[in-house]
Amino acid sequence: MLSREENELITRVGQGTPMGDTLRLYWLPALLSREIPEPDCPPARVRLLGEALVAFRDTNGRIGLIQELCPHRLASLYFGRNEECGLRCVYHGWKFDVDGNCVDMMNEPDDYQFKHKIRTTAYPTCELGGVIWAYMGPADKKPPLPEFAWTQVPQSHRHVTKVIQECNWLQGLEGGLDTSHAPIMHRLITENSTRGGFKPSNPFVAGKAPKLVVDITEYGYQYAGIRPLGDSEMHIRTYQFILPFHQIRPSKSERGHPMDAGHSWVPIDDQMTMVFNWSYSVTDEPLNEEDRLERNLGNGPLHVDQVTFRSKANRSNDYLIDREVQRTESFTGIDGINVQDRAIQEGMGSIVDRSKEHLGPADKAIIQARKLLRQAVKTVQAGGVPGGTRGYQQLRAREAVLRRDADWRAEMTPEMPREAIVQTV
Ligand code: FES
Ligand SMILES: [Fe+2]
Repeated sequence: MLSREENELITRVGQGTPMGDTLRLYWLPALLSREIPEPDCPPARVRLLGEALVAFRDTNGRIGLIQELCPHRLASLYFGRNEECGLRCVYHGWKFDVDGNCVDMMNEPDDYQFKHKIRTTAYPTCELGGVIWAYMGPADKKPPLPEFAWTQVPQSHRHVTKVIQECNWLQGLEGGLDTSHAPIMHRLITENSTRGGFKPSNPFVAGKAPKLVVDITEYGYQYAGIRPLGDSEMHIRTYQFILPFHQIRPSKSERGHPMDAGHSWVPIDDQMTMVFNWSYSVTDEPLNEEDRLERNLGNGPLHVDQVTFRSKANRSNDYLIDREVQRTESFTGIDGINVQDRAIQEGMGSIVDRSKEHLGPADKAIIQARKLLRQAVKTVQAGGVPGGTRGYQQLRAREAVLRRDADWRAEMTPEMPREAIVQTV
């Protein structure tokens, strides 16, 4: 559990809050590249860390991410015209370039124009892995580009989606770092079900409850859920947590193709979250159209409106829970692994009161993530650079059944330098 104060400290993200200041020192996924697909296309609304912004791609392909409200009389630039290297407010015709400079004022005669005195907030962006990332912190603290392994593979091998979740970002992150719920909540209860989930014969489900080992690093941690299997084996699933809100986990596509996958839980504000879901093929073979439907996870076009990014199964329809399916086929009766996650995480309320929890050893990874987040805030308050801004580029996550006495780190995540482990808990 956390005290009320600690809970406030690590969940609130607005300007001037300790966690808000900390998150502003990272590159943040802001929107999908395909939301503004080509030069001079319509702008897109973006709400990030409580700030209302618009994104646009100018005539030369440069990306602007500027304050939504026009500095003249605060009309929304979402309704603006994206033309000739700038976004023009349709109210009185003021126009802004991607750097936030006012470059024209249609409502003032030439000799009265004061455009050189007007600037609007504009955040630096970069485009990597089909995602437009924003940096909202001080210019002198901008970290290296967020070159996660998934952003470096060709588009044919990568799949990225976005879905809006109606709760605080930390609830999402904690669900993603919680291996102990996964084979329980996401299990199927009959072997022949075709719904998304883990079948009873899957060693993830068949193994006993896990012991958790957390290797703390500079970027966050690697951790393993270790489940005894039979007399002499163990099922191991590793995850990576990269500060402040990225998860990497082992995965398989809908047809069983091996992938790495993960989520980033990006705060829209204190009560809403943009979840970016990514996956990529870890072989030479590209992903196919079926893989991109994400039938099992419930994040693709079948489950999520691709204009609003709202989940079709949501709080207002009880996530389309089917009690008969819950009785006979799946643990929850809700279709889609991540739909199940959203149901539970949103059902806790906007910001869960962590002072009321009763944590056990199975929550070790969650406890450590909260510690690392508090530490990151402290580091930033002392003027330092928080963890997770570098050193994560090669990270992988894996799942395997090994001999009970195997050295799982050497066998499963050999690319992770052992000297990176600061402490094991
Ligand atoms: S409010 Fe935008 S130009 Fe007047
Ligand atoms: Fe889950």
